[in-house]
Amino acid sequence: MADISIALSKGRIFDETVPLLARVGIAPKSNGASSRKLILATHRSDVRLIIVRATDTPTYVRYGGADLGIAGRDVLVEHGGDGLYQPVDLGIAACRMMVAVKKGFDYEGAVRQGARLRVATKYVNITREHFAAKGVHVDLIRLYGSMELAPLVGLADAIVDLVSTGNTLRANDLVEAEQIMPVSARLIVNQAALKTKRAALQPLIDAFAKAAEK
Ligand code: ATP
Ligand code: PRP
Repeated sequence: MADISIALSKGRIFDETVPLLARVGIAPKSNGASSRKLILATHRSDVRLIIVRATDTPTYVRYGGADLGIAGRDVLVEHGGDGLYQPVDLGIAACRMMVAVKKGFDYEGAVRQGARLRVATKYVNITREHFAAKGVHVDLIRLYGSMELAPLVGLADAIVDLVSTGNTLRANDLVEAEQIMPVSARLIVNQAALKTKRAALQPLIDAFAKAAEK
């Protein structure tokens, strides 16, 4: 039975974590991308990977379902990183949280004139705080995906979403209006586990920090 578990999500986070894990000396035994298994053994008998939804990673780590986790800053800020130790910015899954609008929409003008903006997003907490700090009134429309559609069909004036290459915005006639924050994935740690398993966890945390520097 492995003593250390690391929670991470399938897809982008998993794919970008595998090379980091290799530098730390950990390789999954099976191919996580294609496996339906939710607990993956690794070639280190004391370490296993737990596959969770991206937004659930902080929850698993906070309540001890996993000792360590890898979660985007977007998820940690939106859903709360409280009670979690966040020792390493891994620099992977890098993108930025942006306000975007339909090409031709005068965002600066709307903000300047104190217009009430309709903003569609799945990041409602981040969005609320961002616009509150600017003193801009917003009507929030909570979506679960495909935010880019909202301004195109008149559901919203603006969206708040992650942007990396900008291809999704371009393909949908949207443009970046304002950056809210840069985003990358962090190593998160259960605080109780850090006390009870420090001898096992600290070298791993240090190895992640070193691997992320390269
Ligand atoms: P869920 O499955 O819970 O809905 P998701 O669809 O957001 O989550 P992913 O798309 O795999 O899951 O994103 C996981 C993390 O990767 C995000 O939380 C974010 O930190 C980062 N990310 C998302 N989109 C991009 C992108 N275009 N480029 C780089 N990193 C990204
Ligand atoms: C993310 C994000 C954008 C897109 C931006 O979606 O929600 O739609 O990436 O990336 P780009 O600037 O490189 O085009 P993702 O691909 O994760 O799809 P999902 O959120 O629907 O899973």
